[in-house]
Amino acid sequence: MEKVVLAYSGGLDTSVCVPLLRERYGFDHIVTVVVDVGQPESEIGSAETRARAISDEHVTIDATDEFVTDYIFPLIKANGCYEGYVMGTAIARPLIAKKVVEVADEVGATALAHGCTGKGNDQLRFEAVFRATKYRVIAPMRELELTRDWEIKYAEEKGIPTTVSERRPWSVDENLWSRSIEGGRLEDPSFTPPEEIYEWTTPPLRAPDEPETIEVMFERGVPVGLNGEEIDGVTLITELNATGGKHGVGRTDMMEDRVLGLKARENYEHPAATILLRAHADLERLVLTRAELQFKRIVDDRWSELAYMGLMDEPLYRDLNAFIEKTQERVTGSVKLQLYKGSATPIARESPNALYREELVSFESSALHQRDAEGFSKYHGFQARMQKKIMER
Ligand code: ARG
Repeated sequence: MEKVVLAYSGGLDTSVCVPLLRERYGFDHIVTVVVDVGQPESEIGSAETRARAISDEHVTIDATDEFVTDYIFPLIKANGCYEGYVMGTAIARPLIAKKVVEVADEVGATALAHGCTGKGNDQLRFEAVFRATKYRVIAPMRELELTRDWEIKYAEEKGIPTTVSERRPWSVDENLWSRSIEGGRLEDPSFTPPEEIYEWTTPPLRAPDEPETIEVMFERGVPVGLNGEEIDGVTLITELNATGGKHGVGRTDMMEDRVLGLKARENYEHPAATILLRAHADLERLVLTRAELQFKRIVDDRWSELAYMGLMDEPLYRDLNAFIEKTQERVTGSVKLQLYKGSATPIARESPNALYREELVSFESSALHQRDAEGFSKYHGFQARMQKKIMER
């Protein structure tokens, strides 16, 4: 018996993959896997129901805690952000792929399948994981170059009723960290998105007139507390998505350079990500030296690019993580932020490792005199003055 394990979302593309794997690829046993990385419960539920109706075997894996601990926390430490995108989809894919491989090992499959097209980044992220295994890799959407209209017709022929949201002109990908809306008319960069594409955030202009102050506590670069109380990662992110969303925090409308080189208009919502990344970066500015901050910006950028590409097995990715991990030893403390009509602004921060301390500054100032800076000032800009004089001759 030839078994294939399919990374399944419950959406149209992956649903259509099930009969295609039977009819076009000749598999006689299709195992669907839904990996829970914090998508809405209703989405998981309907995906399971649909999977059970069309596949031969179904598995749902709850990977939310692992997603937070092993993927989101490292991203926060790295101030992970690619061209302004907080990478919700990007960092979840390698984890989903890993879980699919684990299921394949358990059920004794010979192949792994995903429902990504040949245009986007997700095929690369899945396959960076899939191709490191012994399994055959199948991508029906990419291989058969199907159109959405054909898929809808085929699905209905196969007794898979399509939902309203699938007939919507855009495609949504959602997990605990962010929600992505793309495709259809949104592809046109000059098209202004209708308000209805957003579900997590209030329009900033209609957000409450009263600002709200929150405080996030970090330990070694990891957020561990909210407003003075300890909190686990999943609950923290869930709460910040609600609070931030209410204040219209965390909307992105951007042009993104996909790995293949295509430019794509993308819309995202990510209130918790915005708040946590702002707070974390602010705390780093209090405890890390100027030299560390300058160098870490380069490291963070490179980290983000590798994470965006899904290249988590790249040795450089591990090397960068080792550097980042070392810097985070001192990133402990708390940051207060004000949420107000779309903005999340740090307004106060403290840390036992702060490089600013009043008593030390005053101790130093008895040993330092302002006139000591005179010699420094004389050399400051020295080369520029030399060069100017030479030009004047
Ligand atoms: N452009 C983003 C990325 O490459 C998000 C893609 C999400 N997919 C979707 N169908 N909305 O990570």
